[in-house]
Amino acid sequence: MFRRSLTLTGLSAALIAQPALAQQGPPGGTPYSSVPSVPIQRCANLGNTFEQPAGMPWGGVMPMKADLADIKAQGFDTVRFPIRWSAYAKDKAPYTIDLAFFAKVDQVVGWATDAGLNIIVDLHHFEEIYAKPAAHRAELVALWGQIAEHYKDQPPSVLFEVLNEPNDKLDNATLEPMLVDVLATIRRTNPTRKVIMGGQFWSGISSLASFDPPKDPNVIATFHFYEPFAFTHQGASWVKDPPPAPRVFGLPGDEEWMETMQKEVLAFEERTGVPLFLGEFGAIDSANLAERARYTDTVRRTAEGLGVPWCVWSYDNTFHIHRDGQWIPVMLKALGLPPESTAPTTAPTTGASAP
Ligand code: BGC
Repeated sequence: MFRRSLTLTGLSAALIAQPALAQQGPPGGTPYSSVPSVPIQRCANLGNTFEQPAGMPWGGVMPMKADLADIKAQGFDTVRFPIRWSAYAKDKAPYTIDLAFFAKVDQVVGWATDAGLNIIVDLHHFEEIYAKPAAHRAELVALWGQIAEHYKDQPPSVLFEVLNEPNDKLDNATLEPMLVDVLATIRRTNPTRKVIMGGQFWSGISSLASFDPPKDPNVIATFHFYEPFAFTHQGASWVKDPPPAPRVFGLPGDEEWMETMQKEVLAFEERTGVPLFLGEFGAIDSANLAERARYTDTVRRTAEGLGVPWCVWSYDNTFHIHRDGQWIPVMLKALGLPPESTAPTTAPTTGASAP
């Protein structure tokens, strides 16, 4: 994977201090209500578990029932589940998905639902379609026809995400008609399910300027935020010419990326009226842990200030927030978890001595 950084644009200090959407929260409530149609607040990606090429583990810890319950207990309300569906389907029409694979996905969907979590069933790493969009358009529609039919009786807490990080030849102009087709197919069996979709250039922040999702009241647009890339992907083995490590967060220009996020999010929501979801952000393990935490805290607060729900990359691999069976406390803290409303409280002092 290779992502390029973008040219910075500035933003007035007034806008930074007063993000318009953050004004719309409920009295005394969380900052999320500016996007009431997104049922998500805090989400963790179950990264590198079902998204790698078939039979090639990438080291992600396979989510088990206890993991999902623990994720919920920490204050997350959602998990995003990246799945390489195309690797488990026939490569000719009707592109039948392997039922044994469906059963494995079902198990995780069931565990998440039982734990009280929303789960985003995400179609990830369909590499072929990025290189040759026209040749694989029918396959994408066929995959969604099957996935949508399979999960049509699930509760609304199961969400769909059409295609992770469109890139290469799949620019917004090529992508948008495809999204219309996929959504029409999903709507035949799931008339009101929330469907997430992102734009070109790995759904980076720049994609929002020209992204026009299909008109539908239950569509949520998404973007990913890994800026500055030289910090978040320092030493990343899968990146062509990886940026060198170690690299701190806070070099000249770094903070301006937060202004860019604010500017692009506000402009997109104003232009389209479509709510946004930050579907991936985080920093790689090769960065210093304290720097990773500081970065994560900064991005998370910027998103929350905009009323944008977020999903950290990733639960237990490469960009760890949990490792060797344990949460990394500074990373949880950077994510504002557990939220105050669920944090254990100290017993009130009454002055009376215990019996
Ligand atoms: C990819 C992961 C990668 C992450 C950060 C995700 O979209 O699926 O493989 O680790 O982005 O680059």
